[in-house]
Amino acid sequence: MRVVTDPAGLRQPVARPLVLVPTMGALHEGHLALIRRAREAAGPEGTVAVSIFVNPIQFDRAGDLAAYPQPLDDDLAKCRAEGIDLAFTPEPDAMYFPDRSVTVLENSLSKPLCGATRPGHFDGVCTVVLKLFNLFQPDIAVFGEKDYQQLAIIRRMVRDLDVPVEILAHPTLREPDGLAMSSRNVRLTPEQRADAPRLHRALSDAAAGDTRDDILERARDAIESPLNRLDYLELVDAETLQPATDLKRPTVLATAVFYGDVRLIDNQPVPAVS
Ligand code: PAF
Repeated sequence: MRVVTDPAGLRQPVARPLVLVPTMGALHEGHLALIRRAREAAGPEGTVAVSIFVNPIQFDRAGDLAAYPQPLDDDLAKCRAEGIDLAFTPEPDAMYFPDRSVTVLENSLSKPLCGATRPGHFDGVCTVVLKLFNLFQPDIAVFGEKDYQQLAIIRRMVRDLDVPVEILAHPTLREPDGLAMSSRNVRLTPEQRADAPRLHRALSDAAAGDTRDDILERARDAIESPLNRLDYLELVDAETLQPATDLKRPTVLATAVFYGDVRLIDNQPVPAVS
């Protein structure tokens, strides 16, 4: 496995197809599933690349950035064990000029849900993802469906800016008790960790509701606990991410919840009713 820290090191030619898995490290089984999907897409002769970069410009809270786990040696060992060909682990200084002044802004899908409570977050995501696409020029990039809104925004950016990359989505991986895998889970206290599976239970049970109000009320009742604080809960159109009233179209029930200062997100697709 080649480990590159300087963007200039990505200019060397690689075997195609090149499949990129962008991450912020603290790799867990969810990431490893994306990596395995990437290998499937690349084939044995293609190149699988992983970027590990805790992107400072997508954090809206300095404390969240400071507390974000960064076990780089562990991550590289996991990449080696997965047969990754290329790992890119730049420092922030190598990615951003001190006087950088160009940002990618998405103006529709990024407004609701996480965008409403994390100002600037998706601008930071779009900017770094476009930079990674420009640096690697991957044929394919793989993203997880846990970040449903992120995936929709990246697809929109690729479409609107004619970025020549195919986006592959991979379903959310869950712990045996249903909690969506996340690099932030390790920051939960044992008590919070034991409470957190209620998110998935709540969303998947409520998805069977008959109306928007019924679904949202059921989900809210089941999510709230003395240990958490709801950031948002919304039922949105699966394509536009606008609040959904028409259940004849596919929708997504999405939530973000704080346990202390650890913010967890999850979502549940709700099939269209006929
Ligand atoms: O999903 C993530 O881990 C990040 O938002 C991403 C896509 C790697 C951009 O920093």
